Amino acid sequence: MSKQVFKPNKEFSKNARIKNMCEYQDLQDFAAEDYEGFWGSYAKEKLEWIEPFTNVLDESNAPFVKWFDGGKLNVSSQCIDRHLDSRKNKAAIIFEGDRGDKQIITYLELYYNVNKLANLLKEDFGVQKGDRVVIYMPMIPEAAYAMLACARIGAIHSIVFGGFSSEALKDRIEDAEAKVVITADGAYRKTKPYMLKPVVDAAIDENSPVKKVLVVERNNEDVTWVAGRDYSYNELIKNKSGVCEPEVMDAEDPLFLLYTSGSTGKPKGVQHNSAGYILWAQMTMEWVFDVKENDTYWCTADVGWITGHTYIVYGPLAMGATTVMFEGVITHPDAGRPWKMVEEHRINQFYTAPTAIRVLHKMGEHEPAKYDLSSLKVLGTVGEPIDPPAWKWYYEEVGASKCAIVDTYWQTETGGHVVSPLPGATPIKAGCATLPLPGIMAEILDPATGELAEPGETGYMCITRPWPSQIRGVWGDPERYIKSYFGDVKKDGKAVYFTGDGARYDEDGYITITGRTDDVINVSGHRMGTAEVEAAIKKHPNVAEVAVVGKPHDIKGEGIFAYIVLKSDKGVADEVEEVKAINKVIQKEIGNIALCDDMVFAPGLPKTRSGKIMRRILRAIAKGEEITQDISTLEDPSIVETISTMVNK
Ligand code: WT7
Repeated sequence: MSKQVFKPNKEFSKNARIKNMCEYQDLQDFAAEDYEGFWGSYAKEKLEWIEPFTNVLDESNAPFVKWFDGGKLNVSSQCIDRHLDSRKNKAAIIFEGDRGDKQIITYLELYYNVNKLANLLKEDFGVQKGDRVVIYMPMIPEAAYAMLACARIGAIHSIVFGGFSSEALKDRIEDAEAKVVITADGAYRKTKPYMLKPVVDAAIDENSPVKKVLVVERNNEDVTWVAGRDYSYNELIKNKSGVCEPEVMDAEDPLFLLYTSGSTGKPKGVQHNSAGYILWAQMTMEWVFDVKENDTYWCTADVGWITGHTYIVYGPLAMGATTVMFEGVITHPDAGRPWKMVEEHRINQFYTAPTAIRVLHKMGEHEPAKYDLSSLKVLGTVGEPIDPPAWKWYYEEVGASKCAIVDTYWQTETGGHVVSPLPGATPIKAGCATLPLPGIMAEILDPATGELAEPGETGYMCITRPWPSQIRGVWGDPERYIKSYFGDVKKDGKAVYFTGDGARYDEDGYITITGRTDDVINVSGHRMGTAEVEAAIKKHPNVAEVAVVGKPHDIKGEGIFAYIVLKSDKGVADEVEEVKAINKVIQKEIGNIALCDDMVFAPGLPKTRSGKIMRRILRAIAKGEEITQDISTLEDPSIVETISTMVNK
């Protein structure tokens, strides 16, 4: 029953920041005995304060909490200025373009580039502290400059992933009331240019809060310029000063918003604030990846997701590391691309998603052996549970059975890792996120009693004390913040943070994440609300009703499965055409990432007599499982049989 355990590499442990489980336990004990002392001492040690904080944690208005109150700092200074004495000529960002073009940006160059853009935003666009700026960008260094320039002048950035459609972009612009969008004409994918600017154009109408659009000319394809609104970054940046005094920010001033899907309604703007976020971004970079001064670290995420925020830009730069940014597709020109990059850049830490590992495994099982991967020390995964075959391949073929695999569990709302192995200390098991990081009170609770779940029993993954990088609010909707995260589980009568994930302990107290307990599906490591996909599909005029569920998928982890009831007078004349038409609507409303893997045109949906759709039954049917639950109370029990037959035919 007990899984195989892999001990940390001895040589590695010797020089690791946390060297063994005793050191881990000491840190755990420190946090348990003196929570504020623990966090206060790290905040003093790791951050450079313009003014010191006077209070570590203020819980008087919980779940609205304040960390490091009274303290003043600037996050862009944390990431740049404080490294200039010792690392001005060190590579901050190593960029590799889709077509293999390369660029190295030193810390000093980063300083000038960020300051110029900060000055541009202030002087030419009138951006002020507290204003929202939407960033809709490809994976190019300018995306990082844009984030840091906002942080420098105290503007709140909200990055929208470049795969989202104009409708999705528009919703996010309007919810945040952003006055500026920073974008690019487009970029390159599989050596061909693709476009972003037209999507921005379609997202802005005369009622839009957006007044100015800054366009980085990356692929120099033709785009439309709206006079008085659109400006070329490449032109305006030329005569900007490279010096821009950082805005003095309160510890709790917002740093950014990032929209993410929930189980109901529209995506919510997860708000992260300055000091607590950057502290934990830096600490987890140091502990979980154990990046050393001369190392080169590569995270393959996109800056449009939280992983790109914390572990491409903020975390690595806060600790003064060298971070690789990659514009391209990891399977292009072939599945050897990432390994070629590891060899060429001598990458020491490599961080990616299980979906990517499955694709690379499937498309190029023996590709890693063709390259020199001996520089690798730590391999990371994030976004979804990793299945044992993918884990084994990653461990043996990529890591030569000598690299630690850190299966990092966290989410947009946690800001940084919360449950993860420490590469020099934690004995690991395949597919297991192992133990809470020091200072994070992550516990699996029985939702009915609030007690710790018994080993082997699935419970709710909770965090029972506030932590510095936690979500501070849902933009514009304080009620939703409380309802979404503090409504489900109580421990000792007090509402605690619930992640939305199920999890269980094994006999060693190790944590395995079992997946979402709500109507959120995890497609290729990205969160997708079933309600959002349903709302998009309903926009098609022929659709009467729809229910969306997740279904296990070989590569993506979960695929999107839609049960669709068409309006009776329409019928299904041509199924192929109907699927195409509905996918088109999804593409328009959300983007390609939400396209359905399966669509079934059903005559009706299983509902209770009060009209509630029984998604649990639909999930079981999609998986081809036998229906064991009582269906006699359904409005029309026969529909279950009918749909099952359609799906299994
Ligand atoms: C959801 C968060 C965290 C950055 C990328 C996704 C799932 C995340 C793991 C893991 C099992 C994981 C959870 C979580 N998840 N990491 N190591 N093992 N599941 O961020 O879009 O906010 O999604 O991803 O379900 O709640 P996100």
